[in-house]
Amino acid sequence: MSDADLHQEIMTRHDKVLIVDFGSQVTQLIARRVREAGVYCEIAPFQKAAEAFAALAPKAVILSGGPASVLEDNSPRAPQAIFDSGVPILGICYGEQVMAEQLGGKVAAGENREFGRAEVEVISDSPLFEGVWDKGKRYPVWMSHGDAVAELPQGFQRLATSEHAPIAVIGDEARHYYAVQFHLEVVHTPDGAKLLSNFVHKVAGLKRDWTMGAFRAEAVASIRAQVGKGRVLCGLSGGVDSAVAAVLIHAAIGDQLVCVFVDHGMLRQGEAEEVVALFRGHYNIPLVHVEAADVFLSALAGVTDPEQKRKIIGRLFVETFDREAEKIASDGRGAPAFLAQGTLYPDVIESVSFHGGPSVTIKSHHNVGGLPERMKMQLVEPLRELFKDEVRVLGRELGLPEAFVGRHPFPGPGLAIRCPGGITPEKLAILRKADAVYLDEIRKAGLYDVIWQAFAVLLPVQTVGVMGDGRTYDFVCALRAVTSIDGMTADFYPFDMSFLGRAATRIINEVRGINHVVYDVTSKPPGTIEWE
Ligand code: XMP
Repeated sequence: MSDADLHQEIMTRHDKVLIVDFGSQVTQLIARRVREAGVYCEIAPFQKAAEAFAALAPKAVILSGGPASVLEDNSPRAPQAIFDSGVPILGICYGEQVMAEQLGGKVAAGENREFGRAEVEVISDSPLFEGVWDKGKRYPVWMSHGDAVAELPQGFQRLATSEHAPIAVIGDEARHYYAVQFHLEVVHTPDGAKLLSNFVHKVAGLKRDWTMGAFRAEAVASIRAQVGKGRVLCGLSGGVDSAVAAVLIHAAIGDQLVCVFVDHGMLRQGEAEEVVALFRGHYNIPLVHVEAADVFLSALAGVTDPEQKRKIIGRLFVETFDREAEKIASDGRGAPAFLAQGTLYPDVIESVSFHGGPSVTIKSHHNVGGLPERMKMQLVEPLRELFKDEVRVLGRELGLPEAFVGRHPFPGPGLAIRCPGGITPEKLAILRKADAVYLDEIRKAGLYDVIWQAFAVLLPVQTVGVMGDGRTYDFVCALRAVTSIDGMTADFYPFDMSFLGRAATRIINEVRGINHVVYDVTSKPPGTIEWE
């Protein structure tokens, strides 16, 4: 049985929610809120929702928002099977309009589009509002819509109104159908998570059985069933995902797991030492530590094109890993038949495309892609149902130190893509020090956990400065810090000027080779998080 089939079998024991994705930017947030309420859920693009509904057998369905208008020809609809099945349904924004339209109501193009903060007034009690919203009171919500429901489908009644959306919340309590015009999954709707929790527990009556403790026990059982007595190879990147996957697999099969950690010479300060100490010292997990900095740095010498740098690193990584795997196979205990990867749920969700066609490659991301086919190994991906925040909870559950679990994401090609242009060991050493000082200041300011990712970039530009009585001609260091939900879009972090001044002063004083520091205030899009 494949890994995916096994997981599916185990999942049959849980109460599940299906989220039909109509292409909203925040569909993943709906899923995270449902999971936070202790209920397992999956997302399916509307084009595949009928198959997903049949395969998952969910006990409730949520219809997401989306950019289309139900008034346009060929705009997406929910599969009829969902309405025929009798399961409770919650429609959000576009999902509300789809529900109204498919159930016999009417949607009209709104005269006043409504974006941003709004207030709704509750006009009727409902299980959806129980313990959260009271009749006759007003509450803040986040609206983002042009169309609005104009005529209710049969069986529905209005439960809340707003100035521009008189039909802000509607419900058919006999059929357990509810629909909201606002986005209850975003933090700008302060009571949104509680309303979603009411939908899954009070309206749909689902069990609160999705906990990381339960997941851990199920994952251990499923890893054992999948690999039997086989050996598993796991590439560690220094990041949270591969570390949590390795520790979980070790809890399941002990020494049948071998980890390989390739130090390509482009890691952050102290990173290699931390990984080795954690795995060998703390957990006693077999770890092959490959010191390959010379090989990588000599292949990268003189290379300035970002894509070429990424490709060289990716190729060398696969070759190095491959060679180590052969060595492991020759120890008399048999060749590993499985390759473990820290793939997460956002990597496996199929995103909705309205325009079709291939998307442009912005960057070739590198992890251990290409290895499984080349090495004829089966994949073990125990985290493929989890979101990043759930992986962190699982990491804590498995005893990983907090400093490791809470780490910012770090890209596979490492500091190579934070040193635009050519890379030299000297530049990497300067960057490493500046980055460590910057992160130290962020930690001291208590900001590490509110920032998605922060790092220093060493620009291939030299500038004139004056230090003491002398002229300097040194590099420029750019500081980057962003907030993000999933790395797909990001905003720059609005530090106080005094923080930036402090970080800049320390970097220039403590890191020889840098004489100017600048702060990057670009969001993504139009920028990307990394500079290459
Ligand atoms: P960008 O720069 O594309 O980055 O906005 C989005 C997120 O992905 C990380 N990143 C990578 N992660 N291999 C990885 O494992 C890569 O090649 C890679 N390139 C970018 C980046 O750090 C950010 O979190």
